[in-house]
Amino acid sequence: MERIYTTQAIKYIGGRIKLCGWVNSRRDHGKIIFIDLRDKKGTIQIVFSNNLKPELYNLSQKLRPEWVIEVTGEVVKRPKGMENLKIETGTIEIKAETLKVFSEAKTLPFSIENDGYEINEEKRLKYRYLDLRRPRLKRNLEIRQKAIQFIREFLIKEDFIEIETPILTKSTPEGARDFVVPSRLEPGKFYALPQSPQQYKQLLMVAGIEKYFQITRCFRDEDPRADRQAEFTQLDLEMSFVSQNDILEIIEKLYIVLIKNLFPEKKILKIPFPRITYSEAIKKYKIDKPDIRINKEDKNELAFAFIVDFPMFEWKKEEKRWDAVHHPFTRPQTEDIKKIKAEPSEILAYQYDFVLNGYEIGGGSLRTYKPEVLEAVFEVMGHKKQEIRKKFGHLLEAFEYGVPPHGGIAPGIDRFLAIVLNEPNIREIMAFPKTGDNRDLMMNAPAEITQEQLKELKLKPLSLKAKAPKAGLVKKRKGKNEKDKK
Ligand code: AMO
Repeated sequence: MERIYTTQAIKYIGGRIKLCGWVNSRRDHGKIIFIDLRDKKGTIQIVFSNNLKPELYNLSQKLRPEWVIEVTGEVVKRPKGMENLKIETGTIEIKAETLKVFSEAKTLPFSIENDGYEINEEKRLKYRYLDLRRPRLKRNLEIRQKAIQFIREFLIKEDFIEIETPILTKSTPEGARDFVVPSRLEPGKFYALPQSPQQYKQLLMVAGIEKYFQITRCFRDEDPRADRQAEFTQLDLEMSFVSQNDILEIIEKLYIVLIKNLFPEKKILKIPFPRITYSEAIKKYKIDKPDIRINKEDKNELAFAFIVDFPMFEWKKEEKRWDAVHHPFTRPQTEDIKKIKAEPSEILAYQYDFVLNGYEIGGGSLRTYKPEVLEAVFEVMGHKKQEIRKKFGHLLEAFEYGVPPHGGIAPGIDRFLAIVLNEPNIREIMAFPKTGDNRDLMMNAPAEITQEQLKELKLKPLSLKAKAPKAGLVKKRKGKNEKDKK
């Protein structure tokens, strides 16, 4: 007999079926034992009565929550008055005929019945595979997948092509702190994990791809917060021969249909999404990611907005230098190199942020495609000419072989979903997130590696004295930029 899901059983009234899953709960009424069996799709009531063969009845008495079992039996309608209309299978039950126990289970370290917010976070993350049995988290993962599939299908229809870019890449001196990976074949050299595929997507424009996207993992060694993780997922997108308006319009269209299709209960406050200049936002709301909702208590109100016309540069007090507000590849609103160098504080950029209910859920820009403008920007940021060639030579060289004007954006998938699902932390919509100090408690990472591995990488083991203090005692280092940076 082929195994079916609990929710399919309704089609088999009067027939025999096979089900597999976990014991969700058990009620022993003496002569009858009721088991709620849980699988991927839902739960169903199984009845073991004492007129079954004694071995089977005795085995059913042993069943405990979270044991994994297989049951065959007859699908029958529940007696009148015994229906449970709250669950999909509430009008039927299964009269068990056979029972197989695949595995037993210890008592879980916490309950998985409710939403779990009250349970200690470290415990939840250490036993994440149990935490994920919780219906709320399962649902979050399912919705995440649906949203990603919707985005993929939408963009492919719009003629975009999804391209994977490398995870082992090069450290570049802008943005947040890099995670680095030592090279075995070239000891003393390191790869960096990408903070975003920024340079690759621009190189794909030089390659003539014209419309690229990727649902991609990004890595930033920053202190995690409710809306920030060391690894997170972006919808990364880049287009050639486009204006700022073209990019904002496609994003607006995507998010409107995405909400309409997957979250019909939500109300978008304003369509088209308001476009607010950076200076207006600061003047009116004192922040560059204003929450423009009318009723902030309403769980279903979504106030999208684009913040445009950011300044190109900001002054870094501690480092006594100008830095790019977004990233150095952003196109200034002037091509006058003298002016860029002389009055950096005056220069606006073709940069935009995508904001939802007071959170930055995306950022992007048109890019500088003229090598001389890019060099001027780097110079303002305090890079020496030779250094620029060494660090960004690949990009500058590529731009000498016919580069189209291009631009893009990268909405964060995790943040967006956390907001629409009314979750207080982006961890709640990730399968295996990290703790507040970037540890994976389930895998126990980061972890020491073996002497052999260190030797192979020509890395010296940390002396005992120099070892980092225990987690929790580590003094929090502030991220380089409070704002998200490529
Ligand atoms: P930016 O650095 O602004 O732009 O990042 C884009 C979006 O990614 C999300 N995000 C994060 N989400 C969770 N945890 C984090 N640590 C985190 N950091 C960023 C935010 C943010 O708005 N390459 C450019 C985009 C471009 O210019 O096309 C970039 O990465 O939602």
